[in-house]
Amino acid sequence: MGVDSAKIIKNKSLMNTKTIKLVLFLFVGLMGLNACYYDSEEELYPSSGDCDLSNVTYSGTIVPILNDNCYSCHSSSFPQGSVVLDNYNDLKTHVDNGRFWGAVNHESGYSPMPQNLPQLPQCELDKIKTWIDNGALNN
Ligand code: HEC
Repeated sequence: MGVDSAKIIKNKSLMNTKTIKLVLFLFVGLMGLNACYYDSEEELYPSSGDCDLSNVTYSGTIVPILNDNCYSCHSSSFPQGSVVLDNYNDLKTHVDNGRFWGAVNHESGYSPMPQNLPQLPQCELDKIKTWIDNGALNN
């Protein structure tokens, strides 16, 4: 009798340990799956979510991008290729003749810009495109 009940208790606690291990395993496994799921979604859609195209303006969006990537070679004081981009009117001229977008978007027939540097990140290209599509306003 005494031995039997001890066995049962031992078996029970063994079951419990197994169950707990199984639950833990499933839980950790699901968390891992979740992480993988988000990872692959980020890889598939790198610019979705992060790239806010809702408030694109000349002063707030375009000027900072050009300041970081283009003014060093295209300022009024020393414009390379006679291309001035550091004021609205000159920039607008190159927007309207298509050279600005052709250059940053690396289209054939245009010199790829920024010169000798990697193309601008997709989100910045999307912002520039949005600004142009909205009429390239001086806002
Ligand atoms: C390291 C210097 C340098 C940087 C940085 C640079 N450019 Fe240029 N860019 C040049 C030179 C030099 C030319 C003229 C020679 C040529 O067309 O390759 C030029 C030409 C251009 C042209 C005329 C292209 C054509 O095919 O007619 C445009 C538009 C332009 N740049 C825009 C930009 C923009 C926008 C940026 C920033 C995203 C930028 N550049 C960054 C040096 C630079």
